[in-house]
Amino acid sequence: MGVRSSMSSGIPAGDLTLKASVDVEVGEDIGASEFAQALSLLEDAYPRIDSGIWRWQYARHYLGPPRVAVARAEGRIVGLQPSIRQETWWRGTRALAYQLCHVVTHPGYRRRGIFSALIEAFARDAEQQGACCVYTFPNRLSYPGFQRVPSWEHPFSLSLMVRMAIGGGRFPRGSTSTSVGQPIERFDASVDDLGAAIATRYPTGRVRDHRYLNWRYMDHPHRPYVCLGLRDGPHWRAVAIGRLVQWSGVRVGLIVEMLGDSASLDVVLAGLENRLAQGGAAVLGCLVFPGREEAELLRRRGYRRLPSWAVRKEFYFVARAPGGLPAELQQPAGWWLTWGDNDTV
Ligand SMILES: CC(C)(COP(=O)(O)OP(=O)(O)OC[C@H]1O[C@@H](n2cnc3c(N)ncnc32)[C@H](O)[C@@H]1OP(=O)(O)O)[C@@H](O)C(=O)NCCC(=O)NCCS
Repeated sequence: MGVRSSMSSGIPAGDLTLKASVDVEVGEDIGASEFAQALSLLEDAYPRIDSGIWRWQYARHYLGPPRVAVARAEGRIVGLQPSIRQETWWRGTRALAYQLCHVVTHPGYRRRGIFSALIEAFARDAEQQGACCVYTFPNRLSYPGFQRVPSWEHPFSLSLMVRMAIGGGRFPRGSTSTSVGQPIERFDASVDDLGAAIATRYPTGRVRDHRYLNWRYMDHPHRPYVCLGLRDGPHWRAVAIGRLVQWSGVRVGLIVEMLGDSASLDVVLAGLENRLAQGGAAVLGCLVFPGREEAELLRRRGYRRLPSWAVRKEFYFVARAPGGLPAELQQPAGWWLTWGDNDTV
């Protein structure tokens, strides 16, 4: 275990009556005896996520077991902050980062600072291990908790860009609906160079190699993704990935991954949009880091930012780095993370 702390004296008194002291530990091993407890806590808090997703995301992750902050009181687990380990480009070098996911406090122990203690312990432990940053996409319940701690920064929220599936797009000059990308069954190491281009183009971004892409899209237990690639012989020019979702009764084709230069992506996106429309999408959408060249490419392809009144929730992004976020990462254009699927990693 890494950082270990006890909250019994740290909790603000207020009118709260503590049932017991709470211990917070960060480590990789939730023992077999506690595993069922941890799982039932997560299942209660996230009823739409089934056990297949938990196993895929945490037990079958390609970089090994997750790091988890665990709060215990009265002999049981009362809070959990799991994470996803990430290989990341960080200002030109490879580094370790963590994405926090699925934080939960037992309903009987909420509003006592357990969540705040979990994220603090996790961030301190990550720093001790030399992680370049910890980040997450909080919901409206957890966002205020990040806001209260100055070392957690909220540089921006993500924008949702949309357009009608039929009629708004175009095939780039010289391409046809059949020459705009080949379906990908499985990624191999030849795609790694395409992902590695991120290292020189952006201050930070997750390493998108074939291991990541296979785990993330091909090995997902439920979601059928549409994966299209554009190649010149053995050389990859672009990859675009999407899936169909049902949002408020509307079938939406969500673009969740874009790798490649704008000109190549322009071609492969046309193919992806076409396939999503054929699959029944009425609307196409993409959650983007505003200011990035991909956002500009989508704008040229007819997508427009959905106004805040039309978006039912805000897609927050918060991060914490030792010594604070560098200036170039105060803006969304500096980051290359995941695109559309922010409900899962
Ligand atoms: C979101 C969640 C993790 C928060 O957990 P928590 O342990 O209750 O969080 P905290 O106690 O640190 O903070 C919650 C509130 O209690 C307040 N609080 C903290 N310690 C307190 C104390 N000793 N006395 C009184 N209030 C206290 C905080 O100020 C905060 O107030 P706010 O609601 O005005 O922001 C919990 O509600 C949960 O598990 N929700 C379901 C899962 C979920 O949605 N997770 C977020 C996914 S991104």
